Amino acid sequence: MLEYLHLTNVGPAPEMELELASRLNLITGDNGLGKSFLLDVAWWALTRRWPQDVNPRLTSSYTARPTIPKDPATIEFRMKSKTKSVAYTSKYIPRDESWLGKAGRPWNPGLVIYAQSDGSFSVWDPARNYWKTKGNVDVQERLPGYVFSPKEVWDGLNVETEGKVNRVCNGLLADWANWIREKGDAAKNMKNVLSRLSPSKAIHDRLEPGPLTRISVFQDARDIPSLKTGYSKAVPILHASSGVRRVAALAYMLLWSWQEHRLAARQLGEEPAKQVILLIDELECHLHPRWQRSILRSLLDLARVLHRSATIQIIAATHSPLVLASAEPFFDAKRDAWFDLDLTPDGHAGHVDLRKRDFVRLGDISNWLTSEAFDLKEPRSIEAEEAITEALDLLRKTSPSATDVTRVNHLLKKSLSESDRFWGRWSEFRESREAAK
Ligand SMILES: Nc1ncnc2c1ncn2[C@@H]1O[C@H](COP(=O)(O)OP(=O)(O)O)[C@@H](O)[C@H]1O
Ligand SMILES: [Mg+2]
Repeated sequence: MLEYLHLTNVGPAPEMELELASRLNLITGDNGLGKSFLLDVAWWALTRRWPQDVNPRLTSSYTARPTIPKDPATIEFRMKSKTKSVAYTSKYIPRDESWLGKAGRPWNPGLVIYAQSDGSFSVWDPARNYWKTKGNVDVQERLPGYVFSPKEVWDGLNVETEGKVNRVCNGLLADWANWIREKGDAAKNMKNVLSRLSPSKAIHDRLEPGPLTRISVFQDARDIPSLKTGYSKAVPILHASSGVRRVAALAYMLLWSWQEHRLAARQLGEEPAKQVILLIDELECHLHPRWQRSILRSLLDLARVLHRSATIQIIAATHSPLVLASAEPFFDAKRDAWFDLDLTPDGHAGHVDLRKRDFVRLGDISNWLTSEAFDLKEPRSIEAEEAITEALDLLRKTSPSATDVTRVNHLLKKSLSESDRFWGRWSEFRESREAAK
């Protein structure tokens, strides 16, 4: 479990500090304020490698660079390893363009899975990516992690080690097709995971595997897994919508990493990990509002089933008011936390602030839009917001001109719905003016 991060002079803010909660951590903030960056740093702290360094085919998750190159930069972190809390402060070494590592064996945070927003995935497995012992000496000969570009999640991952290319993962298409052919536990587990991640239990909502299919008579000999939908018995997974593919990839990566980890641990005569950490960027990515509302709860439920004997920590970035609203029934300040990034005006420019916020229930989802999480002035169109701002200005004036009132009335008519609750206030204002004449 990751317990603490403290960044100085690195990334978008001069300083960022967060004391993470043990179960769920939600991160909100405008585009470009550092949500994905914080997840990259969390992954690095846990595994000590930047995803881009492990797999240059990624188009994000580069080594963190100091904000002001000539000033010292540090990343301090604390995590719960297998046995105890451990902390380290790493310094940036400009000459090497890298972060100074702790000497000796790294800490073991448990199984770490990072779902990036573009469909890349990174997995760090304590049974397969940890150090080997040769005699009494620790040597790092194993892979530093499994880092998949979006295409490699589907088609498989090859990794070159010591001049030899090894197939380290077959990918979703081949593995899932094989699981279906074997008719064993793996196919059942995939079906179960997909069902749990579905937007609801309703038959038309449930992600239900169909038969193996082909997508081309002449050009593609692969058997492609399919899904049943409300209108078809078999949509090849390659033709499925972006939302469905995102969730299928998530289901596969969660299952693949856990199954392979258990297998490796058994072969090594070790216990499976007692901690699982899931980092997930833009949790709502490609999902319809109905699905955005259920995905977080589904993930927590799934974790409980998949990792019965392990604790699970989720660190998720989101832009969705539905995700925050969906956490209201179960959010528990003892084990959950919400962090928000804001741009605070500062002279001519501004600076990024990271703050832990009190999570209070807001009920109506539009209340989330106007909360500190999303900072909208009005949960309406830009035109409606401008019209209401002008109307409120007039309401505050002692003697607003008739032309202004007519003009603003016209703007409101153009941008508000007939049933908008603002009409109540506006009509009252107009009636009181009529009465005063
Ligand atoms: N490797 C890096 N080194 C230093 N700063 C970075 C790095 N990657 C991203 N950043 C900082 O983070 C900002 C982008 O933030 P990002 O996390 O992608 O935003 P979002 O909140 O939308 O996910 C950039 O403007 C830059 O300041
Ligand atoms: Mg981002």
